[in-house]
Amino acid sequence: MSTTTTTTITLLLLLLSTTVTAAITTASSDITALKAIKSSINPTTISPFTCLHSWDFSSDPCSPPHVTHFLCGLTCSSNRVTQLTLDSAGYSGTLPPLVSQLTQLITIDLSDNRFHGPIPNSLFSLPNLQTLILGSNSFSGVIPPAISNLKKIQTLDISHNSLSGSLPNSLTQLTELTRLDLSFNKLTGPVPELPKNLIQLELKSNSLSGYLQKRSFTWSTQLEVIELSQNSLAGTIPAWFFLTPSLQQINLSNNSFTGVQVLNPVRSNLVAVNLGFNQLAGYAPANFAAYPNLVSLTLSYNKLRGRIPWEYSKFSRVFLDGNYLIGLPPKEFFGRKRSISGSLGDNCLKSCPAYSELCVKSQKPWSICQKAYRGKLEQKL
Ligand SMILES: *[C@@H]1O[C@H](CO)[C@@H](O)[C@H](O)[C@H]1NC(C)=O
Ligand SMILES: *[C@@H]1O[C@H](CO)[C@@H](O)[C@H](O)[C@H]1NC(C)=O
Repeated sequence: MSTTTTTTITLLLLLLSTTVTAAITTASSDITALKAIKSSINPTTISPFTCLHSWDFSSDPCSPPHVTHFLCGLTCSSNRVTQLTLDSAGYSGTLPPLVSQLTQLITIDLSDNRFHGPIPNSLFSLPNLQTLILGSNSFSGVIPPAISNLKKIQTLDISHNSLSGSLPNSLTQLTELTRLDLSFNKLTGPVPELPKNLIQLELKSNSLSGYLQKRSFTWSTQLEVIELSQNSLAGTIPAWFFLTPSLQQINLSNNSFTGVQVLNPVRSNLVAVNLGFNQLAGYAPANFAAYPNLVSLTLSYNKLRGRIPWEYSKFSRVFLDGNYLIGLPPKEFFGRKRSISGSLGDNCLKSCPAYSELCVKSQKPWSICQKAYRGKLEQKL
């Protein structure tokens, strides 16, 4: 190698290394925020070999190479922190309001830790946040109306925490939101008005109450999944609900609904409906069979009476156990060509064939059935 080439290479390397180190010096407001986050965590819960353990502020958080310090937990774009994604290491602590100084954050994921206390209001004002995942912690407090400031939020998951209070109607302003998961909290009040681009609504296991109101679902024409099981919703499940244009899966099981109305759809993508463990009275609605893509129907543990609609034999999964259904089960259910899975047990059916999986669970005692039909069961059979 000639001396000139060596000199050129040395110069180039020097230039490169200086540009790399000189260009990236994390914004001081971001450093302040990161320090506040680390110091709000109980140090005894920061074990060796975890992300937070490697956060050593004697070096710059955003400057590579990350050989010993800032090994994980954050991502930068030039000198700003864009992702805060902590490992599930059992960190216990609170989230300080200063977190909102990380104004370039696009993603926050603190799931599966032991964060507690309120979610700072300032977090709900981060203008660039697209993904907020705080699931499986112990956050408490209410969801403030100011959540509408998260103008770019797409995924919001605060499931498995201790959030309380009702859901704000300002959710409609989150026009980019596609997935909302607040399952397993202590939320109360009605289902709020939903934003227009929501695809997945998960509110399982809360204490939501009231009726299903049309205005909640007016704008959400993209909604594919509604999971509202294990709440205290009541009243009649209205016919328009099943006609929400993009719906594929509905789970309203384990609520306090007392009736259901079903109309024939013009068009529907509905695949699975679960209305089990409610107080549904009246007949099993035959109109469900008019939903062209519906394959799975669960009406278990309600107070349904009368005969099983023969139309239900078009489904591949039918759970009707735990009602007061009478008569002979439709023979189409036991055809050799196609098999239906599910259950018809714990009803008042006559001759549910013992060889069929559908009839494994036995029927109710005659006396209980007689009582349900006020002693007029003979006339019905
Ligand atoms: C119904 O929900 C309650 C409360 O969330 C729960 O304790 C119960 O186990 C649930 N029952 C079923 C059958 O899912
Ligand atoms: C619906 O909710 C019940 C109760 O929470 C649950 O057991 C069931 O797996 C859920 N999903 C479907 C598709 O039925």
